[in-house]
Amino acid sequence: MCGIFAYLNYNVPRSRKHILDTLVKGLQRLEYRGYDSAGVAVDGGNDKNWDNNSKVIQLIKKRGKVKALQDEIYKQDSLDFDIEFETHVGIAHTRWATHGEPNAVNSHPQRSDKNNEFVVIHNGIITNYKDLKKFLESKGYEFESETDTETIPKLLKYMYDNRESDEISLSTLVERVTQQLEGAFALVFKSVHFPGQVVGTRRGGPLLIGVQSKHKLSTDHIPVLYRCGKEKKAVSTLPRVDGDTCLYPIGEETGVEYYFASDASAIIEHTNRVIFLEDDDVAAVVDGRLSIHRIKRTAGDDPARAIQTLQMELQQIMKGSYSSFMQKEIFEQPESVVNTMRGRVNFDDFTVLLGGLKDHIREIRRCRRLIVIGCGTSYHAGVATRQILEELTELPVMVELSSDFLDRNTPVFRDDVCFFISQSGETADTLMALHYCKERGALTVGVTNTVGSSISRETDCGIHINAGPEVGVASTKAYTSQFVALVMFSLMMCDDRLSMQKRRQEIISALRTLPDLIKEVLALDDQINSLAHELYQQRSLLVMGRGFNYATCMEGALKIKEITYMHSEGILAGELKHGPLALVDKLMPVIMIIMKDPTHTKCQNALQQVVARKGRPILICEKNDDESKLLAYRTIELPHTVDCLQGVLTVIPLQLLSYHLAVLRGFDVDFPRNLAKSVTVE
Ligand code: M6R
Repeated sequence: MCGIFAYLNYNVPRSRKHILDTLVKGLQRLEYRGYDSAGVAVDGGNDKNWDNNSKVIQLIKKRGKVKALQDEIYKQDSLDFDIEFETHVGIAHTRWATHGEPNAVNSHPQRSDKNNEFVVIHNGIITNYKDLKKFLESKGYEFESETDTETIPKLLKYMYDNRESDEISLSTLVERVTQQLEGAFALVFKSVHFPGQVVGTRRGGPLLIGVQSKHKLSTDHIPVLYRCGKEKKAVSTLPRVDGDTCLYPIGEETGVEYYFASDASAIIEHTNRVIFLEDDDVAAVVDGRLSIHRIKRTAGDDPARAIQTLQMELQQIMKGSYSSFMQKEIFEQPESVVNTMRGRVNFDDFTVLLGGLKDHIREIRRCRRLIVIGCGTSYHAGVATRQILEELTELPVMVELSSDFLDRNTPVFRDDVCFFISQSGETADTLMALHYCKERGALTVGVTNTVGSSISRETDCGIHINAGPEVGVASTKAYTSQFVALVMFSLMMCDDRLSMQKRRQEIISALRTLPDLIKEVLALDDQINSLAHELYQQRSLLVMGRGFNYATCMEGALKIKEITYMHSEGILAGELKHGPLALVDKLMPVIMIIMKDPTHTKCQNALQQVVARKGRPILICEKNDDESKLLAYRTIELPHTVDCLQGVLTVIPLQLLSYHLAVLRGFDVDFPRNLAKSVTVE
């Protein structure tokens, strides 16, 4: 999806080259989200006085990769790259086309007019843009792009042209504009009329602000400002809340740099001190001072936002020695599942404590049903754990695709507990499903990988899966961590049930050995690579299994589809005779998952059916399953674990297979065509 990055240096002299390099680097950190064009807006002009230069905005936009934009930037003969700016605002964007094809005109920043008086970068969709466009055209404003976004800077200019006083601020203008917008957005503005100022706002799309200042910024909810220097004396307690506005005079005494971004990964190399904006916040930097204004302030609605410390390391979002992020993330799974369990599972006394749920667990135990909601891989994590959730909670468990759940207007009641599974915590459909369930009074639980994300903030309680940043569009380590998190939840739900202690101990013991077993599976990489060499020219791949491994089939097929562009289908083995068997012949590759659990005999029946149609099954099975191996064309042999955790092991060969197939087919593993990492539009 689209990516926002903006950089403001206040009283910190920076060359234009430094500013542009910072913007380009910010965009590069957002590349993994998926995009098809990119652009920047910086102050133009080459006057020694930066003040004069900020009266002209230079837009540079390009279809294709950020590298193409970077080349375009340095082709600009009109720009002196060495010139220094005491204070400057640059905004940058990666666009994933929704309204209008990917080209320079449609990419962002979008502008108000030919003189670039107001420019904006936008993530999300404006649903009432046609009405706004009609109105603006009737007032003589001319449009040049096919985007919904272009209505925003034009509306801003309309408000500015019709202002009642010259005293009006950019933030007031932005507030007025957002009141006319319908849809979802995160926006950042820059204007020639407000030099050195930046304004950002959001409704339904993430936006955070990184702060880099010589001042010490406290981690408390109310940040404390210290004067740097010999005395190191506290000078004031921040922020000052005045009505609907909260003021952070961070840059008053010394210089300050601000980074606005839709994603923490673009900020982390500059600072780990960030403020997450809430919906209907308008954040403005004027004379280096940040203020946050609430558009619609209700009682008890505090405009003060904490300056938080990001627990993310730069190296976590670097590929290191791996050829792609996806490969790195697959191989990180022995550690990422440990991080999901860290401090939560006590392997000695067989207890599980999820801190984010402990205050709500009694209420959850009393609920009428659990509804697990997500999209794509996150949905599969719900399918993968439904059986153990049902077994250990003894509650009915519905697992729902967010979009379908909303389309059906699914009945939801006050005594339901709704889980929202999302790696990014920003998926639009899942977020809307969350709003829907909240409106109906259900208790909401987030299971996300992104601290500060919309879903983690808007749910009543939740579990951070702590898998670490996942950059590859194909979700891998987030899936296994979501899986483990949901198993931990089911264990916590039944910790007081005597009849379940034996089963609990069996599962907790298996969680302990899980990281080592994952390592064993990863050691099969060469074998899976050679299987990929056999399969990579096929058009289609079927993946079949049942019970605890049905989710693996769907998840494996999704991985294959999204990065290899081969057709692949996850088939419930129990459904074989009801249709899919017609696809089986000697040419169709069929991967079958057969583990030694209560479905073993039924899976073997399916295997017989496939062999009888001259199919050549590739088995993912347990090491000692000699009986099944006799019928296999090829086998991938896995170690044994408890039934409900098998899916963590069985999915890994399919993650590796899809990775190798994509490499052999010559595709970009991390940036599959047409897809984005974080789907922030419906
Ligand atoms: O961030 P989320 O977990 O909410 O994302 C949901 C899906 O978009 C995501 O899992 C998608 O299916 C992956 N690309 C699959 O690998």
